Amino acid sequence: MRARGGQFARAEEWLKQLPTPVMVIPGNHDIPLYNLALRLTNPFRNYRRFAEPHSTNPIELPCLRAIGINTINPHRHQQGIIDGVTRDRVCEWLTAQPQDAWRLVVIHQHVKDIPGHHRPGAIPGARETLEAWARAGAHAVLHGHIHFDYAQTADQLFPGFPVPMLVIAAGTGSNARTRGKAGTTNSFHLVEFSQEKLEISTQRWNSMSGRFEADQPVVFPRSLFSN
Ligand SMILES: [Fe+2]
Repeated sequence: MRARGGQFARAEEWLKQLPTPVMVIPGNHDIPLYNLALRLTNPFRNYRRFAEPHSTNPIELPCLRAIGINTINPHRHQQGIIDGVTRDRVCEWLTAQPQDAWRLVVIHQHVKDIPGHHRPGAIPGARETLEAWARAGAHAVLHGHIHFDYAQTADQLFPGFPVPMLVIAAGTGSNARTRGKAGTTNSFHLVEFSQEKLEISTQRWNSMSGRFEADQPVVFPRSLFSN
């Protein structure tokens, strides 16, 4: 929550329990908020020590390729950023991946304000970045930060978006601040990939049963995409 060593150590214990490969990318809570000196001199110190060693990035499985990027700007705590060098590096990586694999890009902040779920930090110029990635072969961009889950085609978010692509937002798996907020509960996505389709089952916390329970799956056929 505040990027302190003890909090990272507990996060590391959890990361170690997950099946591999795991990809970890930093969020805005992974840099110090109040320790301004550390935030400006070595903002990712704890992240690099506790989280990064457990991260496989990019993930390169036969059917699935995923690259995660750091969108955190230490000078502005919440504001996401993707510079031109990073955008182009991701394009090069996407272009080099096998044509039959699913290709994903993972970022932290959102690409557009969602009505009813405003949260500061949307990445400036995100539409142009997403268009470049879509043209380079990305099937989906995954993000978090807004504590609200959805899966939409990019042209639902950005009318006239020229290439078929998905934008998938993760909810919040564990943050208690989400609980009780209208229309939201803790959730995570289970995304399954096959040659023919990508299937998203959103798992939502049911406080009555004390378990995560799956929504009706949402299916996107591979034929929806142009590559
Ligand atoms: Fe965040």
